[in-house]
Amino acid sequence: MTAVELHSATPSQTRRIGERIGLMLGAGDVVLLSGELGAGKTVLAQGIAKGLGVTDPVKSSSFVIVNEYDGASLRLYHADLYRLEDPAQVAELALDELAAGGVLVVEWPEQAGGELPEEHLIVRLSYEGAKGRRIVVEGVGERYLGIVRRLRGRERAVH
Ligand SMILES: Nc1ncnc2c1ncn2[C@@H]1O[C@H](COP(=O)(O)OP(=O)(O)OP(=O)(O)O)[C@@H](O)[C@H]1O
Ligand SMILES: [Mg+2]
Repeated sequence: MTAVELHSATPSQTRRIGERIGLMLGAGDVVLLSGELGAGKTVLAQGIAKGLGVTDPVKSSSFVIVNEYDGASLRLYHADLYRLEDPAQVAELALDELAAGGVLVVEWPEQAGGELPEEHLIVRLSYEGAKGRRIVVEGVGERYLGIVRRLRGRERAVH
């Protein structure tokens, strides 16, 4: 199995799951965040940022598709493709080149039309009631399987 299913009851729990993921990321890593409007992708990205040691506040801006933040040792590139009109624009963003030198986190990866790195961690968030969220983390590629395994190990230890 290459996925782990987690559950969050509050925004801060979602942020902590993101932080756990952020602590395991290295240079060149790519994390895709999938889920409906308001599912918690940005909240999870804020947790990843915390795990990377980013101190500036992370939020999605209306006009900038990729926001950059300095972490303790890695740069975070936070892309929100929601407003992208044409998948061809993704190629122009050269997200894979950005990813090589830091960590790339992408909201609305479905908008990219297959232009994103083939190997990645994908986090699928969905609603479980008003405040509950189901968070499924899947690794695509050898590098990411270790992260999934470690997240699963932590779950076992908790329950
Ligand atoms: N368990 C939870 N985890 C995450 N967010 C939650 C949770 N419960 C409630 N929320 C609320 O849901 C909202 C999630 O917003 P967020 O901006 O992270 O969503 P998003 O998936 O990035 O949406 P968008 O597609 O608009 O970018 C926030 O207002 C947050 O407070
Ligand atoms: Mg968002």
